[in-house]
Amino acid sequence: MTEPKQWVKPDPEKEDVFWPTEELKETAWVSDESIYEEALENPEEFWAEQAEEGIDWYEKWDEVYTEEPYNYEWFVGGKLNLAYNAVDRHVENGKGDENAIVWEPEPTDEDTVRITYSELKDEVSKFANVLESLGVEKGDRVGIYMPMIPEALIAMLATARVGAAHSVVFSAFSPESLKDRLDDANAKVLVTADGYYRRGKPLNLKKNANKGLRGSPVENVVTVKRTGADVEMEEGRDHWYHELMEGASTEHEPAVMDSSDLAFILYTSGTTGKPKGVMHHVGGYAVQAYLTAKWNFNLHEGDIFWCTADVGWITGHTYINYGPLMNGVTTVVYEGAPDYPEYDRLWEIIEDEGVTQFYTAPTAIRMFIKQGEEWLEKHDLSSLQILGTVGEPINKDAWMWYFEHIGGGRCPIVDTWWQTETGANVINALPGVGPFIPVYAGKPFPGINADLLDTEGNPVGVDEGGYLTLKSPFPPSLIRGVYKRPEKFKEEYWSEYGPRYYFTSDGARIDEDGNIRITGRLDDVMNVAGHRLATGEVENAIGKHELVAESAVVSRPDDVKGEVPIAFVMLERGAEVDSETLKKELIGLVDDTIGPTARPADIIIADEVPKTRSGKIMRRILKSLVKGENPGDLTTLRNPEAVERLQEKIQ
Ligand code: WTA
Repeated sequence: MTEPKQWVKPDPEKEDVFWPTEELKETAWVSDESIYEEALENPEEFWAEQAEEGIDWYEKWDEVYTEEPYNYEWFVGGKLNLAYNAVDRHVENGKGDENAIVWEPEPTDEDTVRITYSELKDEVSKFANVLESLGVEKGDRVGIYMPMIPEALIAMLATARVGAAHSVVFSAFSPESLKDRLDDANAKVLVTADGYYRRGKPLNLKKNANKGLRGSPVENVVTVKRTGADVEMEEGRDHWYHELMEGASTEHEPAVMDSSDLAFILYTSGTTGKPKGVMHHVGGYAVQAYLTAKWNFNLHEGDIFWCTADVGWITGHTYINYGPLMNGVTTVVYEGAPDYPEYDRLWEIIEDEGVTQFYTAPTAIRMFIKQGEEWLEKHDLSSLQILGTVGEPINKDAWMWYFEHIGGGRCPIVDTWWQTETGANVINALPGVGPFIPVYAGKPFPGINADLLDTEGNPVGVDEGGYLTLKSPFPPSLIRGVYKRPEKFKEEYWSEYGPRYYFTSDGARIDEDGNIRITGRLDDVMNVAGHRLATGEVENAIGKHELVAESAVVSRPDDVKGEVPIAFVMLERGAEVDSETLKKELIGLVDDTIGPTARPADIIIADEVPKTRSGKIMRRILKSLVKGENPGDLTTLRNPEAVERLQEKIQ
């Protein structure tokens, strides 16, 4: 065995600061920090150059960037197709025999599936023809409610190929969540599967899909047979994927899309209970997804890239599907649970497949820390070059453990800050530039302008906390609107500082070298095991119970999941209930309305919660109570005595 390569070295003076080695600098796409200044001097020129080099355009743009208040567009007039860029061009460039997708099923007695770029081109073309035969046209929406199987990627790519927009709904979301999203997007077709395996058990996804489809606008449903479960198929509406694919042609002309056409909608939690449909446009998304995947993970031909997210989230869209595929590398897709059948499943896959870049969430790392290092000792992880993290602030212990035990002290950790709304990575250290510092994400990606502002809109100084904003010209893949709700778009992102600053809702601090540390959300959005969830969504679900008069949900820090929801529930006057039964019913409502990821870790039945004199629930106080902290000044409350009573209940 050759000695594993060393990709990082410690700073000679500062503890826990790491830099790329010469070896990494040599292979990295960027190794000189002058890139930051250069790109910001003229972001339009920077992005135009990258767009020209990295993406295949049918027609070049007329204007690189245009901006007016609340409306901005990159590569205006440019024509391209995302699926062509992710698949066909690699086949045309002679890379058809290289693996595009390596799929690892959860059951260990099933074989790994490898799909080459040529095969993927055929499958995507066939499914594009299938979608068209079901009446899908350019500009339509296609719902995708699928587990982690290759067909999920095929369905997304085929949708992009025909010029429609996909709306992927996380497979663990409830039928009601699915229905809301299908309705809102007015989806014509839904692609789903009979089921999938989770911790050794087959789960029936089609059953949930069928429930969600009741009364929905969907005309045709295509179901992939994965588990062979018994499923109900409705005559005239339901079709089996394999049957439709059998007769489909592999010849398909990709739709010529405008940069400003809708690429996809992805629903995400905002400040209120109703998820918003975040819209991304084809041109800007393609460029930033491509370039951030390439530079941040140092992607080169032959690399085996593994992002452990789910395709139901933005991380899966950009770094399982479009990003790695547009770069022509192999993307690993794993169906199941990270701890099945044992805690070393992920390490086994890394070893077996020779994974070169591994991208995961702090919550997964914390789960593995708990299980101990013995699970790693059996595995050779020396193929790894770059580690990534995303989704929530990573604590120092988790960072160091990831660095030492997974990366063997050899690999940089690229801590990428971004959001569903930014479509692709925005803040992180570049692998060939560094530095890699625990809990600091790093600098805004070249060509992206971020500012930390105080409440008045003035830039904050070193180590003073501020609101993270993105400044014009906005990142190419920044959100282009909230589907059907332009007023919501304005309110959520632009009401704080006006149209020149996109408001991220995250707090951050900056060090003297310009490295940014993300401190977390400032709104009522939680990050539960890396899943974004608004407290209001959980409140809406709980509020459906006939005995619930009012509820307040706050997050509590959690060692593994980062945050968990805690629900305070006030009952209707005179309601008499057995509290255990009620709690079960409330959990059931949360499961049905959102999905099990949103389950409260604790439900506290209270007569009263602290309120302001104007009747607003004081979540800040509830938050300190669940953390066991002193709730602070209570004089502004209408009912300070409620706090003491709650304290007794919580202890
Ligand atoms: C948080 C996930 C700290 C942040 C890509 C953001 C992070 C929200 C990081 C978006 C990070 C994401 N460090 N916090 N590296 N990455 N976040 O839309 O609060 O699911 O606003 O997108 O996750 O979550 P979303």
